[in-house]
Amino acid sequence: MAANPIFIAPSILACDFGRLHEEVCRSEASGADWHHLDVMDGHFVDNISFGPAFVDAVAKRATKPLDVHLMIEQPDHFLPRFLSSAANITVHVEARHEVARTLAEIRVAGRTCGLSLRPRTPFSAVEPFLEKLDLLLVMTVEPGFGGQPFMPEMLEKVRAAAAFRAAHNLHFRIEVDGGINLKTAGPSIAAGADTLVAGTSAFHATDMAAAVWAMRTA
Ligand code: DX5
Ligand code: ZN
Repeated sequence: MAANPIFIAPSILACDFGRLHEEVCRSEASGADWHHLDVMDGHFVDNISFGPAFVDAVAKRATKPLDVHLMIEQPDHFLPRFLSSAANITVHVEARHEVARTLAEIRVAGRTCGLSLRPRTPFSAVEPFLEKLDLLLVMTVEPGFGGQPFMPEMLEKVRAAAAFRAAHNLHFRIEVDGGINLKTAGPSIAAGADTLVAGTSAFHATDMAAAVWAMRTA
């Protein structure tokens, strides 16, 4: 089974919102593969980031796919508002919704679907859904804020996901999100991750293209 190529997804949360369109272009010019967008509602996580209008504004300038990460309590209710701009939509297994139904709705709308789990949620919580996924997002920090330190013990879940994927001949991407940088990219890829979200380490790098390249080849 051919492995998925490594994708780097800079997290828009870490960019300069006052220069949004330039930042989107800067990210694309750096060689990044996707734009990662962290939607937070102040309920599922203790922060409010941005909503559908902001995601649409990114989509206006982007030529690369939008990877929308919904850290919200009712992803099924708000899902339709992100469908026109997202390529992938990831929802949380811990949110208040019928997970299988939400994933199916994303697929029916012609988008790829992802499922995420917070650090304290065991791998077994996502296992029943893995066969239906395009992407599994393993949170490597407590969701809510950028710039937090990577939790190395989360790599155990990445390894479990990679083993499950190989054993069942599946192809879903394994994405890691939180604290990814030049030091943590290598161990994440070695554990089986193929999609790296990078906020601070990408947008705040002195040379974003060099940072993206270094993480991709870590
Ligand atoms: C955290 C978000 C992350 C965040 C990553 O809740 O899901 O995507 O933007 O930021 P860094 O890379 O700075 O940890
Ligand atoms: Zn995210």
